[in-house]
Amino acid sequence: MKKSRVSKTAQVNLMMLSDLGIEEAVHFQDVLGFSRGVLNVFSFLPVSSQLPMCISLISEILYQRTNELIMDLGNPVILDLACGYSPRALKVCDDQHAYVGVDLPDVITNLKEHRAELVGDQALDDYYSVDLTKREELVRLTEALKAPTTVITQGLLTYLTLEQKQVLMENIRSLLEKDGGCWIIPDTAPNRLLPDVLSAVLGEGAVSVFKQMMKILDSTVKRDRSANGWQTTDEICEALEKKGFRVERVPLYTETMNLAGPCRLSPEQAQKVISNWKETESLVVYVK
Ligand SMILES: C[S@@+](CC[C@H](N)C(=O)[O-])C[C@H]1O[C@@H](n2cnc3c(N)ncnc32)[C@H](O)[C@@H]1O
Repeated sequence: MKKSRVSKTAQVNLMMLSDLGIEEAVHFQDVLGFSRGVLNVFSFLPVSSQLPMCISLISEILYQRTNELIMDLGNPVILDLACGYSPRALKVCDDQHAYVGVDLPDVITNLKEHRAELVGDQALDDYYSVDLTKREELVRLTEALKAPTTVITQGLLTYLTLEQKQVLMENIRSLLEKDGGCWIIPDTAPNRLLPDVLSAVLGEGAVSVFKQMMKILDSTVKRDRSANGWQTTDEICEALEKKGFRVERVPLYTETMNLAGPCRLSPEQAQKVISNWKETESLVVYVK
């Protein structure tokens, strides 16, 4: 996928959290002022008016669950790989946790330009421009880290080829071997999350329309979604274990999260969405 298009998905993620009234996301969106025009990319879909609500449910569960895991795991450094415009620094930085955000140059330049307004004097280590597909770039950054680290990749793996994922796994393994810590992968079934929500909120008809439209879009932009491998949780676990990691499967949904999205649905829709999430797993990954 073109890099410019990928960073648009980071803007959408922020807008979705902001639409739900999540305080730190509202603040980031106020400062960064992204245009809702990016959402027009979906306007050709018959379900387009309902799509933002459905996407926001996914943005929120991944964001909140990752934050919950970060706090439970308690490592002092949070390394958010492909951080996009996530407002997570405001949520997890305190005198026990420092946040390091990493993304491609256009995203990082934008964050750094607004850094003072975005995060003030929070215990932010910094934002760094790193192309995660280049072996040396992440190594240079992680050599400077000196404490047990929680690495996060949210919304990244599907964009990487199998070869690029191998490089990323090797780099993360070296960091965890050096300093200790773990790696959170909250989204292990990216191809299921949206269809599951569409089916629960809008019904099976919407899923099939969405799938047909995506097929047309993929063939127009000549994208092969299966080319990057790792489509299911089991496939991800197998690849990680082969690479010398120990994988702990944890539920994506927990009762302890205070989610805004499901409250905007009917009780029946919310119950269906949550019951799908209860069957979905996130991963906490350690070196063996
Ligand atoms: C779907 S967004 C997710 C953003 C963020 N994690 C979130 O949850 O809001 C994907 C992000 O991956 C970043 N990205 C894609 N390829 C990358 C690469 N090779 N190196 C670093 N970041 C990359 C994009 O710039 C974008 O911000």
